[in-house]
Amino acid sequence: MFFVARHQTIKHTSMKQKHDNLTTDVYASEAMRESAPVDRIPEKGTTPQVAYRMVKDETYAETRPELNLATFVTTYMDEEATRLMNEAIAVNYIDETEYPRVAVMCGRCINILANLWNTPEKRDWKTGALGIGSSEACMLGGVAAWLRWRNRRKAQGKPCDKPNLVMSSAYQVVWEKFCQLWQIELRTVPLTSDHLTLDAEAALALCDENTICVVPICGVTWTGLDDDVEALDRALDTYNKKTGYEIPIHVDAASGGFILPFLNPDKRWDFRLKWVLSISTSGHKYGLVYPGLGWVVWKDKKYLPEEMSFSVDYLGASITQVGLNFSRPAAQVLGQYYNYIRLGREGYKAVQEASMAVARYCHGEIGKMACFKNYSPEISNPLFIWSLCPEYERKAKWTLYDLQDKLKQSGWMVPAYAMPKNIEQMVVMRVVVRQGFSRHMADQLLTDIRNAVEEFEALQYPTTSRLKYEQQVKQCGKVFAH
Ligand SMILES: Cc1ncc(COP(=O)(O)O)c(C=O)c1O
Repeated sequence: MFFVARHQTIKHTSMKQKHDNLTTDVYASEAMRESAPVDRIPEKGTTPQVAYRMVKDETYAETRPELNLATFVTTYMDEEATRLMNEAIAVNYIDETEYPRVAVMCGRCINILANLWNTPEKRDWKTGALGIGSSEACMLGGVAAWLRWRNRRKAQGKPCDKPNLVMSSAYQVVWEKFCQLWQIELRTVPLTSDHLTLDAEAALALCDENTICVVPICGVTWTGLDDDVEALDRALDTYNKKTGYEIPIHVDAASGGFILPFLNPDKRWDFRLKWVLSISTSGHKYGLVYPGLGWVVWKDKKYLPEEMSFSVDYLGASITQVGLNFSRPAAQVLGQYYNYIRLGREGYKAVQEASMAVARYCHGEIGKMACFKNYSPEISNPLFIWSLCPEYERKAKWTLYDLQDKLKQSGWMVPAYAMPKNIEQMVVMRVVVRQGFSRHMADQLLTDIRNAVEEFEALQYPTTSRLKYEQQVKQCGKVFAH
């Protein structure tokens, strides 16, 4: 009797609708016969199974991101890592007093990264912070540079109202956000067909006493190439000596931060260079952790302005934090530390080498196709871009946007986009190779690309996107010379 009574209570209070009971099939439930909530929370809830299916069904294609070659973000981790992270899914990183081991683990992750980047800092605990991604990490690096510049100017009795930051026009949007939010002038060096990465001399030409830092990128989002940090450091050293300024470098190594130490350890781009005072990276890109995790490390504690460390009395303890967010997931820290233990230096090297090998293979095969032209002859990270050959483009009836749509039909996400200012007439396509994208998958992708091109070449009439392109060419009166 008790069971029946309890059963009825559940039926009346927990079920969404009076017709549903515990044996009702998920897809026979009332919730499944109604539209999903769009602007109001439903009056009553439903069962976990129905809620799961409704959310899952809507996002099914998007919760299998392996075929997304647009994203840099990790889409594969060991089952053990996934389990570990799922088990910590409810842990808030900020509760350091409740979860002190997680805080210590985070400190170790920062130490490991600082040493991978050849920090000269002698302290047991190196100076750094975690972020939700590179965006937060870049912002923290940028804020530190701005405060150091401001404090120096104040001490000299000079005005502090016109700070600027210099980088290539192929910046990731976070730098535009940073400059808007902190009211810093963003000065950019355009890419040209002669300078596919940041030109150090052109960068210096934009610098002055109000420059808070220069930001080279290792793993440029738009192209996959690395800015030459060593050349910039050399040029900046001469410039700083001549002018008496102390313009530092923050390296945005969102992708390269976890590639260079393993694949090119002798290349000098990191704290071995005099003016590199901070570096940021994404743990969730080639750090091989699920999103969202970023890291920023300073060369020494003295480069992290005191104003950025907030001491908060929280749950009876005093916590010092550096970050833009307060609460943040702790599971990613566990995932990062797991990877260090699981892979070791050798394992990281092997994974990144495998990605590079597949990327080089795709780059080579794309380069062999008569209609395409790779942006650069070599690749420095496991990603690359290509465009239509100029001669081919003049006569083609299709564009790379058509290819993007065609590949989508087979589940691939391969973005086509226009390049940044100065070379914006150049439309390119990009493939990011990550752990989880094998040579076998690359062959499937290449076959789909070849088949699509064959279909396009049989077209009798130009596609809509081609007509639009022709109109644009007519309007601006020139075709970009590659
Ligand atoms: C060079 C660069 N900087 C910053 C970011 C922002 O990184 P996140 O998505 O980790 O915030 C990206 C992302 O692609 C990037 O490529």
